[in-house]
Amino acid sequence: MRMYDLILKKRDGYSLSKEEIRWMIDHYLHGNIPDYQMSAMMMAVYFRGMDTQETFELTMAMAESGDRLDLSGIPGIKADKHSTGGVGDKTSLALGPLAASCGVPVTKMSGRGLGHTGGTIDKLESIPGFQTALTEERFMEQVASVGIAIMGQTKDLAPADKLLYALRDVTATVDQISLIASSIMSKKLAAGADAILLDVKCGSGAFMKNFEDARKLSEAMIRIGKTAGKNMAAVISDMDQPLGRAVGNALEVKEAIDTLKGEGPEDFTELVLTLGSRMLCMAERAETPQEAQKILKQKITDGSALHKFTEFVMAQGGDPSWIEHPENFCRADYIEEIPSVKTGFVTAFNTQEIGVCSLLLGGGRETKESAVDPFVGLVLRKKKGESVRKGEGLAVIYANDKEKLAKAKEHFLKNVTIESERKMPEPLIKEIL
Ligand code: URA
Repeated sequence: MRMYDLILKKRDGYSLSKEEIRWMIDHYLHGNIPDYQMSAMMMAVYFRGMDTQETFELTMAMAESGDRLDLSGIPGIKADKHSTGGVGDKTSLALGPLAASCGVPVTKMSGRGLGHTGGTIDKLESIPGFQTALTEERFMEQVASVGIAIMGQTKDLAPADKLLYALRDVTATVDQISLIASSIMSKKLAAGADAILLDVKCGSGAFMKNFEDARKLSEAMIRIGKTAGKNMAAVISDMDQPLGRAVGNALEVKEAIDTLKGEGPEDFTELVLTLGSRMLCMAERAETPQEAQKILKQKITDGSALHKFTEFVMAQGGDPSWIEHPENFCRADYIEEIPSVKTGFVTAFNTQEIGVCSLLLGGGRETKESAVDPFVGLVLRKKKGESVRKGEGLAVIYANDKEKLAKAKEHFLKNVTIESERKMPEPLIKEIL
């Protein structure tokens, strides 16, 4: 087989066979195919697409390119969850312990943030002592004993995807649905859960800017997972404004804790309950989403959800006193209001740029090597549809550097729209598949 012939085939719009895809991924992983040929292939895929079978074969080739977790020793239906990423997305922090408190074994490997979206691992690391680098043995022991473990992705999990994603990132070939679906699902399949719940975001703060693309991506991932024998579901939700009110690592942990106490923002609580109810049904802990919602609400009210979060944090070395005193998470040197420059209603956010505000404050990563300041970020006082008076606070900003604070404040004001007429926000949950 020659890579040249495969590029030609895809360039001319033909489908690649399973053998060709396996050969290509194997040889690329072992350094026998140069980046310039793989870049040409990715660009050919970008323009020609991949059919269902090719997308599945690419996923499996990448999933099987490294370690695969065998979770069969842990009793029950193991559940994993994946978010396509957004701003203020602290869903795993609340959903994981909540589902675990209902008896669902939750196994999750997460990434760090890059660009305007934050990562679960960075958020958890704002809890002093919290360890995210677990061995596979310890990860599995903890799921068996505590009911939930979240660790950073190991370098041996789907290594072919890691190489290919880095290449796509610098060759303008990330945003192609088959490539995104196979990339995400290769990691999820290698991580070994039985039930995979997809939290697909759509809007100005998400990868998928419009609903049609979010649905196509959801359908592609569901098809791959089902073909691989997994129990799959997806919830498509709005990312045309930050989720909840907090944006920034430590601030988001606090908001997740508030939510587990039943004191979280309405939209975030709704998303957690919607995803949680699907997860409970997939893991056969409830018969219907309605029954599942009742169980979930009960676990919040009786304190079990927060207790499970504390247990999980302690199991991974985190300091539980921070959960008892969540004001610890709000400890930036400068805490200032961003006053509105006019009276009216908040009608829009450029959500990606609100994520960039956190980046400007030092809370995100410009490159993979950048260090993150866990305590910076912002908390929205006003969301879409809410009224504001001139001079009233639109958000509270948390900074550790005066210059960065000024830049982030200016950037925030440029990326929020206030108009005289009220427009109600879109419903949070757009579709459940
Ligand atoms: N996230 C991934 O893991 N892969 C992609 O291709 C895009 C987003």
